[in-house]
Amino acid sequence: MSSKGAATAANDPSRPIRVGVIGAGVMGSNHARVLAGLPDVSLVGVVDPCAAHRTRATELTSCPSFETLDELFAEGVDAVTVAAPTHLHHEIALACIAHEIHVLVEKPIASTVEEGHDIVAAAKRAGVTLMVGHVERFNPAVAAIKKAIAGEDILSIAITRVGPFPPRMSNVGVVIDLAVHDIDLIRWFTESDIIEVQPQLSSAVAEREDIALLQFRTASGVLAHINTNWLTPFKARSVTVATRGKYVMGDLLTRQVTECFGFKPDGSYSMRHLPVGHDEPLRAELISYLSAVRSGDIPAVTGDEGVASLEIATRCLEHPSKPALASAARKGPRRVVA
Ligand SMILES: NC(=O)c1ccc[n+]([C@@H]2O[C@H](COP(=O)([O-])OP(=O)(O)OC[C@H]3O[C@@H](n4cnc5c(N)ncnc54)[C@H](O)[C@@H]3O)[C@@H](O)[C@H]2O)c1
Repeated sequence: MSSKGAATAANDPSRPIRVGVIGAGVMGSNHARVLAGLPDVSLVGVVDPCAAHRTRATELTSCPSFETLDELFAEGVDAVTVAAPTHLHHEIALACIAHEIHVLVEKPIASTVEEGHDIVAAAKRAGVTLMVGHVERFNPAVAAIKKAIAGEDILSIAITRVGPFPPRMSNVGVVIDLAVHDIDLIRWFTESDIIEVQPQLSSAVAEREDIALLQFRTASGVLAHINTNWLTPFKARSVTVATRGKYVMGDLLTRQVTECFGFKPDGSYSMRHLPVGHDEPLRAELISYLSAVRSGDIPAVTGDEGVASLEIATRCLEHPSKPALASAARKGPRRVVA
């Protein structure tokens, strides 16, 4: 089968869907591992210019590997996942879409908002499914929080996503790399657009920002806050949502979600742990993507949503709050006098 026409061939439920993974680094290896274990999926192969990464992926999944995209296209694929470095998402996604191949592109959708719009427009023209890998939406703890706040009047959201520096520094800072996850969550929880951004950024060690405190207001009037950095010795990921009737707290790593409710005039309230599922988020994400490919339904995270979150992250970088005094502007944080 040639890749041309894959967009319709993928709808045939009588045969496995043929999927390729582009980029076999940390994330791409995980994509390949999960896809290799899914029913009704044939993992056609991984593409990576780095021989060592190809070998690692082949050992992990026993699937073929290719040095170039054209070699994968020659095998015939219905759908791909793109887990190459972000600055290549645009070029790779457009090449796949030109072959009428469905695309899941890792977050952020692209390096720039313009490139993101290009990908979305090309996918619409070609009639292929385009989904963005905002995997945190598939974290069972996040899903439990979303369920707990359904129908509630949300007042504020606070998200913490901190940890040590990644082993390989990419060419983006914490806002594009990490905060974009939470910008997506804020938009998804509130089902509203972010209309005001108040970013505070600092680069204590890295060239680009490695600490960010970001404040937002949504069109629906929700205040939200993201605290993210690469300077915490351990990983922490937490979400709290205050609504008029509840206070919901979730730890995205331990997957414990608790809600306070039944507020009484005397200050007393009730508290309970909420049930949380056990799914691997990436597995749930890829199943959701392939189900959208099969059915032609709108995917769980659309290209437009990916662009909207990237646009807010980009605005945080374009308009960092200015210090009140020019002399107060300094690169890193101030040392506390002992
Ligand atoms: N959803 C998430 O939670 C999450 C987590 C980590 C990374 N990511 C995203 O995944 C993407 C990859 O990140 P990573 O951490 O796996 O990076 P990585 O550096 O580990 O992997 C990137 C891989 O792409 C390969 N590559 C380079 N040029 C290529 C090309 N032209 N064609 C195919 N492959 C090519 C590299 O050799 C490398 O193996 C980024 O966009 C990143 O933002 C998402």
